[in-house]
Amino acid sequence: MDADLVIVGAGLFGLTIAQQAVEHTDARVEIIDIRDHIGGNAYSYLDEETGAEIHKYGAHLFHTSNRRVWDYVNRFTSFTDYVHRVYATHDGEVYPLPINLGTINQFFRAHYTPQEAKALINEQAGELAGTDPENLNDQGISLIGRPLYEAFIKNYTAKQWQTDPSELPASIIKRLPVRFTYDNRYFRDTWEGLPKDGYTAWFERMIDDERIHVHLGTDFFDTGQALNKTALVGKVPVIYTGPVDRYFDYELGALQWRTVDFTERRYDEDDHLGCPVMNFPDSDVPFTRAIEFKNFNPERRDRQNHEKTVVWEEHSRFARRGDEPYYPVNTAEDRALYKAYKRKAEAEEQVIFGGRLGTYAYYDMHQVINSALICFEKQVAPLL
Ligand code: FDA
Repeated sequence: MDADLVIVGAGLFGLTIAQQAVEHTDARVEIIDIRDHIGGNAYSYLDEETGAEIHKYGAHLFHTSNRRVWDYVNRFTSFTDYVHRVYATHDGEVYPLPINLGTINQFFRAHYTPQEAKALINEQAGELAGTDPENLNDQGISLIGRPLYEAFIKNYTAKQWQTDPSELPASIIKRLPVRFTYDNRYFRDTWEGLPKDGYTAWFERMIDDERIHVHLGTDFFDTGQALNKTALVGKVPVIYTGPVDRYFDYELGALQWRTVDFTERRYDEDDHLGCPVMNFPDSDVPFTRAIEFKNFNPERRDRQNHEKTVVWEEHSRFARRGDEPYYPVNTAEDRALYKAYKRKAEAEEQVIFGGRLGTYAYYDMHQVINSALICFEKQVAPLL
């Protein structure tokens, strides 16, 4: 094996490190991934029947206010002018999200000015004034008042956590943004959009260099293949972006994650939801939200099938061993456990842990790219 750098995981963290390595050094890079595709959780594929670009692990929208990251990603793809907007079906009506003046006026059948709406929400949020929120319900009520909390947040959160919010810690929700304007642009970042030719074309361009080799369907812990942990650690620099507890064979215990299951529905219609993402915050609908992928790319209308569409309903639950880990549960015990794993990780010779699984953190794509750019400069380059 004549690699100078081995990267475990072809997600955005691993791809960014590989790209930087060949740009700034003469390194030969081997990337392995246990899955049969590159791109990690941001991978997408074309659905032949409808012409939709399906985001295999859930809706992925790119957004950032970081100039360095924006310039970096634009080297590999241009972006559409897609602006993310989300709606919610509650009690037989459709409302705009995040909660804004439009949501408030529709909900209370009113025409409040921003100031009047603010006064109303403050008054409703004061219901539990003088008490410390004991659970998520109290916290939600103190942040936005009972009526809006119960309509849009309570049951949605219960479905996300499969737990009644009265039994969830208040700390799960730190803030619930309410906008006192009609602006329902979901992200507040300077730049947003979707990669013009799709996510996979973007990722392929990042590693289009003869010094980078990719090995798919390859598990770092499988000693039956050459690029495995036992053979490599201590001998060549390794960037590890898989789960940190898995690396140490769960010897201190397992970190907790939530996962997501999707139910696919196909309709003989051009457009089923009228938007890309519809939340369902009521308890009588079993899923949290539905994604209609065709609607992320209205600029591709002439390449899409106008008679068929595909919608994915999203169900959230606690992950068991073997499930895809999606969101860190992040209880105080999890944080303490991660700290212990982090100490062990730091002691590993020539192994750098990165990305969302390697550092037990939720990152958006721009954050993971930024952390990989910094990690390359500070930690990887000196090893090459
Ligand atoms: P990622 O998980 O992508 O890559 C790690 C790779 O390591 C995987 O490909 C895995 O197969 C591989 N691996 C693990 N164990 C291995 C082993 N033993 N051997 C070999 N390979 C192994 N962000 C955003 O900006 N906008 C958005 O809209 C969304 N939406 C969103 C929805 C959902 C449902 C989730 C869960 C996440 C998002 N994200 C997001 C976040 C985004 O997915 C995230 O920032 C990146 O995918 C993180 O990239 P990483 O490289 O860190 O991990």
